[in-house]
Amino acid sequence: MSSLPNQQQRVLSGMRPTGALHLGHYHGVLKNWVKLQHEYECYFFVADWHALTTHYEEVEILEQSVWDMVIDWLAVGVNPGSATLFIQSQVPEHAELHLLLSMITPLGWLERVPSYKDQQEKLRERDLATYGFLGYPLLQSADILIYKAGQVPVGEDQVAHVEMTREVARRFNHLYGREAGFEEKVEAAIKKIGKKNAKLYKELRRKFQEEGDDEALETARALLENQQNITLGDKERLFGYLEGSGRIILPEPDALLTPASKMPGLDGQKMSKSYGNTIALREDPAKISEKLRKMPTDPARVRRNDPGDPEKCPVWKLHQVYSSEEIRTWVQEGCRSAAIGCLDCKGPLIDAVLGELAPIQERAREYEQDLGLVRNIMNEGRDKARDVARQTLTEVRQVMGLEYH
Ligand code: TRP
Ligand code: SF4
Repeated sequence: MSSLPNQQQRVLSGMRPTGALHLGHYHGVLKNWVKLQHEYECYFFVADWHALTTHYEEVEILEQSVWDMVIDWLAVGVNPGSATLFIQSQVPEHAELHLLLSMITPLGWLERVPSYKDQQEKLRERDLATYGFLGYPLLQSADILIYKAGQVPVGEDQVAHVEMTREVARRFNHLYGREAGFEEKVEAAIKKIGKKNAKLYKELRRKFQEEGDDEALETARALLENQQNITLGDKERLFGYLEGSGRIILPEPDALLTPASKMPGLDGQKMSKSYGNTIALREDPAKISEKLRKMPTDPARVRRNDPGDPEKCPVWKLHQVYSSEEIRTWVQEGCRSAAIGCLDCKGPLIDAVLGELAPIQERAREYEQDLGLVRNIMNEGRDKARDVARQTLTEVRQVMGLEYH
């Protein structure tokens, strides 16, 4: 559990630069980011170092992939005014935290992450017996912890990485949150928040520790959050004292599970570049229409008069994403009675997909024509991210004995 109330929690997520994005990314991840950016303080970054953990031999396309992806983020409405957008390798503090965390991370934790063996199996053609590949979940932990993020939107396949991040944070706090004279410092800090608050704080702490009252914990955290008169260090001590007997320097994040994308590909399987069944966000509308017209349908409909079954047709899956109740009834009845042909059936879908993409493509063109603007946006994000990252790193260096006077 993170030590901040909900609205004040930071959200952080990263995406590997895979180049131009498709409708699967849009319906699965990006729409969610666009929503989250209004609800939380959000940090979204391009995980370019993560790309190198598997694609270290293909560096020629990295830069273009990064800009293509960022243009798509911006085009769908990820807003640099609401969220901080940056490129991971431009905030080298992530690497320093990764190194420092590596000192305390048991090898077994990394070897046990399910994606380690899975990916090695899947990407057989690459040599992934590297140090960087083994360490990549810990790099992800550093990405998260350096912003003290409370919520991490990820897909199912990444939940284990957030879990490991919690373990790393717990171990870190356990090792370095124990300072000499902690209890005395807590007593002194409690005095600084005023008599009434102090009494309330102690009572809430007792309720949480003795009765397991989670609400009391939340209330106590909110109380601390509102204190203006104490230092950040004292605040952390009081947060830590609520739950245990040490400071919480790196709060444990929660995974914010992104529901699996319902977006099917052109063949009915999950939309994915590796299946070659995608519609890219910036694909030419004529090409998109053609792809949709050529989509396979229920094989029982050989001739126009043969009735079909939408349940056996990938086109129906797209109707479930895009079409109104009314159109879906029309499809169901028309298909089963052979009253409509498959091209008729695809008509409203083609309109819906093109209608959804038109404003996105329009905005993308503006950014394509002004790459200087895109670069500026990412530079500004980098500066903001670095400010936060540096603060965390200062604390981490301090407690790890790396502060030299
Ligand atoms: N590992 C993630 C992926 O492959 C990307 C990523 C890197 C990430 N760092 C992160 C996601 C931090 C969430 C938080 O998709
Ligand atoms: Fe599929 Fe529509 Fe043709 Fe039925 S009518 S088989 S749902 S494309």
